[in-house]
Amino acid sequence: MPPDLHTQLGPLSLKNPVMVASGTFGYGQEYDQYFDIGRLGAVVTKSLSKAPRAGNKPPRLVETPAGLLNAIGLQNIGVEAYIAEKAPFLRDRNATVVVNIYGYTPEDYAHLARRVEESGTGHAIEANLSCPNVHDARTSRGATMVSQVPETVLEYTRAIREATSLPLYVKLTPNVLDIRESALAAEEAGADGVSLINTLLGMAIDPETRKPRLANIVGGLSGPAIKPVAVKMVWNAAQVLRIPIIGMGGICTAADAVEFLLAGARAIMVGSMTFRQPDAPMRVLAGLEDYMERHGFKEVSELVGAMEV
Ligand SMILES: Cc1cc2nc3c(=O)[nH]c(=O)nc-3n(C[C@H](O)[C@H](O)[C@H](O)COP(=O)(O)O)c2cc1C
Repeated sequence: MPPDLHTQLGPLSLKNPVMVASGTFGYGQEYDQYFDIGRLGAVVTKSLSKAPRAGNKPPRLVETPAGLLNAIGLQNIGVEAYIAEKAPFLRDRNATVVVNIYGYTPEDYAHLARRVEESGTGHAIEANLSCPNVHDARTSRGATMVSQVPETVLEYTRAIREATSLPLYVKLTPNVLDIRESALAAEEAGADGVSLINTLLGMAIDPETRKPRLANIVGGLSGPAIKPVAVKMVWNAAQVLRIPIIGMGGICTAADAVEFLLAGARAIMVGSMTFRQPDAPMRVLAGLEDYMERHGFKEVSELVGAMEV
C-alpha cells in the first residue's frame, strides 16, 4: 500500500501537503506546461488586492549566494480580474486553490475575502499580513507589516474571520522577536492556520557603483539561506499552537519538506525553487512519498512534529 498523503489544514483536506508559495507561481497558468497543477496539494495565488497594482520600480530581484532578494511590491491584476480571467483556468484544472489577499485596512481584507467566497473562486484564503515591500502601508501602530504587531494581527484576522466562512490561513512575517506572539494572536482571532514564513528583510549594495542593487533599497530574502530560520520558527510556533502550520522558506527537495513536517508543519510550500526548477513541487511530492515508504510512515500526520530529541 502506498502511503496516504492527505493532510488536514483545519476544515480543508488536501490530497497531499505540497503547495506552492504565493508570488512564485503567478496564477498557475505559466506552470501548466511543466506539470498537472491539479496534482498539487493546493495552488496559492499571487497576493491579490482590490485594485490592480504595478508594484515597485525595477530592479526588483537580486540573486544572493543562497537565495533571492525581491522587492516586487505586490504587483497584481486585482481581485476582479482574477475572478474573471484567472479563476476559470484553475477550476478547469481541478486545482485546490488558496487565494492570497492583501489590503491596507481590515475592511480591505474583509472585502477581498467576501469577493472570493461569493464568486466561488477559492477553497481557502491566505491573508498576507507580512509583505515587506509596500511603503504606502502603515498600521495604526506604525509598523509597515501588520503581523509585526500582535494586536493588529488580532484586529485584521477578526475582520476577515467575520467576513468569510472559508478556511483562513494567516501568513506571518519572520521579522519579529518572537513568532509565537503573532501566531497566537492569529489563532485567538479565529484563523484556521498560519503560514510561516514570509521573507526576511535584507539588502545588497553594488560596491562598484555604490548604489543599492534594488531600486527599493530593501527587499525580502527567500530561498535556501532562510531555511534554518524558517524551520526554527515553525518549531517555535508548533509548541504553542493548536491550529495547523503551513511551513515554507527555502524548500528545494523532499528532504527539506520533511524537515518542516518534523518541526511541526502539516503542509509545506515550495517558493523560490520553482524559478530554478519549475517542476520542483512535483519532485518534492514524489520524494516525500518515497521517504514515507522507506521509513514506514503510512500517513503524513505521523510525521508532523515527529522530530526526535
Ligand atoms: C518573487 C517573490 C514574490 C513573492 N510574492 C509574495 C506575495 O505576493 N505574497 C506573499 O504572501 N508572499 C510572497 N512571497 C513570499 C513567498 O510566498 C514565501 O513566503 C517566501 O519566498 C519563502 O519561501 P521560499 O524560500 O521557498 O521562496 C514572494 C516571494 C518571492 C521570492
